[in-house]
Parts: sequence; structure tokens; C-alpha cells
Amino acid sequence: MATITNAYRARSDALPLRAFKSKGRPSAIAGIGVYAPDKVLSNFDLEKMMDTSDKWITERTGIRRRHVAEPGTTTFDVATRAARGALASAGITASDLDMILVGTSSPDGPFPSVACRVQNELDAPGAVAWDTLAACTSFVYALSIADSFIATERADTVLVIGAEVLSRMLDFTDRGTAVIFGDGAGAAVVRAAPKGAGFLSWCLGSDGRGYAQVTCGNIEKGAYAAKDPHPFIDMVGPDVFKFAVDIFIRQAHEVCEQAGVSLDDIDLWVPHQANFRIIDAAARRIGLPLEKVAVNIDEYGNTSSASIPLALEEAVRKGRVKSGDNVLLAGFGSGLTWGATLLKWA
Ligand code: ACO
Repeated sequence: MATITNAYRARSDALPLRAFKSKGRPSAIAGIGVYAPDKVLSNFDLEKMMDTSDKWITERTGIRRRHVAEPGTTTFDVATRAARGALASAGITASDLDMILVGTSSPDGPFPSVACRVQNELDAPGAVAWDTLAACTSFVYALSIADSFIATERADTVLVIGAEVLSRMLDFTDRGTAVIFGDGAGAAVVRAAPKGAGFLSWCLGSDGRGYAQVTCGNIEKGAYAAKDPHPFIDMVGPDVFKFAVDIFIRQAHEVCEQAGVSLDDIDLWVPHQANFRIIDAAARRIGLPLEKVAVNIDEYGNTSSASIPLALEEAVRKGRVKSGDNVLLAGFGSGLTWGATLLKWA
């Protein structure tokens, strides 16, 4: 269980939120791709490894299975597979890319970036490539960077990836964290959009006072970058839970207000998949029926920066999103960080 002792208690209602309307040339998602490793670890498998039960995990989190990378499969591998899918879905080639951004909490090493290795593998020479680390909010942060570069005409086509191999950062004797996380990747091609479509508004922020609420490795000693062989995830779960519900609700209000769209007119909410109870509690208080919420935590667990694109791709593939729909993407995570965007599906 969590070893963190920290007097800080995250409360989103005490935070001033930064929200803004998109400006300049609008951008939109032009294609999505995903990848999850074939190997699956069910709750019943975990029952054999630690003192837990399928009943507890399902009831407390909504998770039934998670996909886990085989030894030798890296974050770069899963990122590249999702990237290829996104390029194919957008009908473009890697040579069209001006920028590659990878959101990840589990890079294969401090450097080089996963993005540079994806760039090399895809053969996209000259594109700007780097990683964005904002834990589970990384994908939304990276989308906002893509939108900004396209808005200001410094880029036309950006590949945004959320990719994780978190299973390698878990202590499989800690039932408080090991049952939560999984591996996977999702990618989106972001391009200039027709007027009226694309990202309408954003709400982005961080509260570093809560840095100790979710950690990986011995951050006070800097051991992760140096020589810690087991950079285990640790968190103050119940505290983060309350923060998450509050910030989901506040972000939904902020992005809708900025975009001039009523909460009732959200067609699909794609939340970060951290815990079904967090999603359910926030959806109720936002006033969204579950038919308007993308949930696939049962299949993947919490895949950090990959969770939003994994859930979005599934919703698109199942025909739950159509042109002109108002889609809300929202994340939160370690840092503490949060980020949401309202987009009109192109
Ligand atoms: N199996 C069985 N029992 C368990 C398990 C388990 N896997 N885990 C905890 N328990 C027990 C605890 O020991 C405790 O027992 P006790 O009452 O005898 O002491 C009891 O269940 C309740 O423990 P809590 O931690 O209070 O359980 P809670 O209902 O809060 O669920 C959870 C824990 C799932 C972690 C929840 O707090 C949560 O989802 N929090 C949000 C986490 C999150 O969203 N993190 C996102 C950031 S991730 C990132 O940024 C990389």
C-alpha cells in the first residue's frame, strides 16, 4: 500500500482553473490508431498472485482484465504500432508529418525520447519529435500542443501518441496498485480542420503541491533516472479519487462555457479510464447518462496516457461518434495534472 506521508489534500474546488477558447486556424483529429499487447491478465490471474479477488477489483474499479506487454516489448513498440494505425486511418504517410508528440509516463529510458525512435521507425525525417510527460494527462496536453502549432501555422500535420508499458513499473506484491494498471497505446493524426469543426476549447492545469499523491520511484533521491531497478508506482488512492471526480466536473463546465455549448449538448464524453466509480460519479453530477460516456476500463485497466485514445477509437469504431458531434476528452493524473478539450468531430 501507499507509503507516502503527505499532508496535502487535493481539492479541485480550491484551484483557479485555466480555460480558453481555441484561436487561429482550427485543427481536428483526422485519424486514430490503437494497439494493445495480446497477453491478457485477468482478475482471476491476479487472485493467484496476491491477496485480492475478482469481486473486489470489479466492484471497486470496474476493471476485469488488462493487457500486458511480453518481456522485450517496449513503449516504443506499442507506440509505433498505434502510430501506423493512425497514419492509415488518416490516409497519410509519415513523410507528411511535421511533428510527432508522444505522451508517456513509462518511456523506455530518460532519453532518447520515444518520439524520436517512432520517427526513425516510421521514417519521418525532419519532423519535430519529443515526449510530453504529464502522467495520465499527457495525451490531452500533447493534443493541445498540436492544436497550438496548427493554429499558428507552424505545423500542418501532427502525430500525437499516448503509449505506456506500465506493467514494468508495478510492484506485483502491492494489491493497491498492481490491479489497476495496464499497457497499450493510442495515436491520433491532428490536421487543419474545416471551419466550425475541430477543437473548440481547452481547460489545462497542474497543481504541483500534490506532487506526492501519485509517484513512481524514489523521487526524493532521483533514483529512477540513476539506478533504481524497480521504479514502482505508489499513490494515495482515495485522495486522488475525490480530486478526480471534482476536476472532471469542473473541466466539463469550463470547456463547455468557453465553447458556448451546453452540457446537455455533449454527445460523447471520453474520460481518462482510472476507475469506473470515478467516471460514474462525475457523469451523474455533470448530468450525462452512461450512453454518452465511453468506458472500456473493464478491458484495459488504467493505461495512463493511452486510455483516452483507446476509448475514443473504440467509440468511433462502434459508430458512436458522427460528424458534428460534440466530444469531450478529459484527463487527470500525477503531478497533479488535468486537461480537457471539447471538439466538434470533423
Ligand atoms: N484487493 C482487495 N482488497 C484491496 C485491494 C485489492 N486489490 N486494494 C486495496 N484493498 C483493501 C485495502 O487494503 C483496504 O482494506 P482495509 O479497509 O481493511 O484497510 C480496503 O480495500 C479499501 O482500500 P482503499 O484504498 O480505501 O480502496 P478504494 O475504494 O479507495 O479503492 C483505488 C482504491 C481503486 C486505488 C481508488 O482509490 C482509486 O481508484 N483511486 C484513484 C486512483 C487514480 O485515479 N489514480 C490516477 C492517477 S494514475 C497516474 O497518474 C499514473
